[in-house]
Amino acid sequence: MTPDASALLRWYDHHRRVLPWRSLSGHRPDPYAVWLSEIMLQQTTVKAVIAYYERFLTHYPTVQELAAATLEDVLHLWAGLGYYARARNLHACAKSVSERGGFPDRVEELLTLPGIGAYTARAIAAIAFGRPVVPVDGNVERVTARLNAIEDPLPASRPLLARQAALLNDDPIAQSRPSDFAQALFDLGATICTPRSPACLTCPWQTSCIAHARGIAAQLPAKQPK
Ligand code: ADE
Repeated sequence: MTPDASALLRWYDHHRRVLPWRSLSGHRPDPYAVWLSEIMLQQTTVKAVIAYYERFLTHYPTVQELAAATLEDVLHLWAGLGYYARARNLHACAKSVSERGGFPDRVEELLTLPGIGAYTARAIAAIAFGRPVVPVDGNVERVTARLNAIEDPLPASRPLLARQAALLNDDPIAQSRPSDFAQALFDLGATICTPRSPACLTCPWQTSCIAHARGIAAQLPAKQPK
């Protein structure tokens, strides 16, 4: 059974996490703030990101101010977050966006910017611009693997999981609130559909989850032995 987007959105309306980069439902956030948060969240936990995110926005309230900073200052402010290629790309991307006069609002154009890959382009398009696309991160892969009981191991199953995740958007209700739908998927993966001991009994998608019906949710997604 196709999962019901309205059940997920109803759950999100009651249980959404309050995070500094989230605007109130229905309000368009600043694309710069969305981009900054998504770059920071790529390999770092929400908890660790919050203080850095706020510090960056205080130092550089706009993409133009970040673009005008020296790389040295940006790396200094980034220190401790790790994966320093992200900070170099952040600075390069800020320059590029500043020169072109703002962030593009389509996935294809976002993909041309430094440090923006398939996941980040879709996250920005959905969250900042309300484009009906599904960003697929580790959380969304896990939710998708379980909903469809996909037993093929990661990483080989990644393209299949991405195709299945895109189908979640076939529901017009999902397309009517792309930003909330994407973030509801992140929250579902982070708080209910967790890697170990998922809280299936309180999951808004329990009745449409094949892995739950088969009692194998906690085992998915499988990982290729190294
Ligand atoms: N992980 C990546 N992007 C996120 C977001 N916008 N909210 C919560 N967790 C996330």
